[in-house]
Amino acid sequence: MHVALIMDGNGRWARQRGKERIFGHENGIEAVRDTVKAAADLGVQYLTFFAFSTENWCRPHKEVETLMDLLVRAIGNETPELNENGVRLQAIGDLESLPEVCREKLREALELTANNNKLIVTVALSYSARWEVVNAVQKIARKIAERTINPDEVDEELFVNHLETANIPDPDLLIRTSGELRLSNFLLWQMAYTELYFTPVFWPDFRRKHFYQAIIDYQRRERRFGKVNNQPVISKNILK
Ligand code: IPE
Ligand code: IPE
Ligand code: MG
Repeated sequence: MHVALIMDGNGRWARQRGKERIFGHENGIEAVRDTVKAAADLGVQYLTFFAFSTENWCRPHKEVETLMDLLVRAIGNETPELNENGVRLQAIGDLESLPEVCREKLREALELTANNNKLIVTVALSYSARWEVVNAVQKIARKIAERTINPDEVDEELFVNHLETANIPDPDLLIRTSGELRLSNFLLWQMAYTELYFTPVFWPDFRRKHFYQAIIDYQRRERRFGKVNNQPVISKNILK
């Protein structure tokens, strides 16, 4: 199972306490820790966190700068424990645009955890789905120009293999905190059939029990993928 999370509401959580927005980001780390543990205990195989969007670069300089510092610190502090628990860390997004110190810390963490496979934790950094799709189209266009692929070969499978998430299955469930009912440019292609779950809880308050509530809600749903209830699996051959 793959659960994707839009960690939202850090700023409002801090404002409610009369603090700067960054105080909310700092307190969001505990929520990430608790979520990873809860997911590992349930046997979830993939977790993907939206940590920083392409559009988030347009926030005030000070907030972006402190967020990057926080990211470097968090990766440094959390990676040893993640590694001990069999977690593999991955990153998606325009990683080139991150500050060098951040890229370096990330590289170390990815390398250290590269051989783990109990739980794959993917962090979306400087990520937006439209950037990802355009980037994939560029990669494919280049290969066509170099004649390494033929235009007729471009199908869903080939396209998916050029996305940032090439080695990750589509999310089964998306959790967004803070009561906002939108996707904010996250995994648009991959979430075609993802179940959506929205909670008013601000991200710094999100804990194991909230994760479990989302999973229980998901388990009550019926995923039909465009078919009808309980439709038996019909092979393509029978349809011919
Ligand atoms: C989510 O919290 C964290 C990031 C987008 C980096 P916000 O910073 O968006 O907090 P709100 O939504 O303004 O409360
Ligand atoms: C989405 O949250 C991005 C992340 C959680 C990293 P935002 O707070 O940036 O989204 P909007 O602006 O409310 O749509
Ligand atoms: Mg927000």
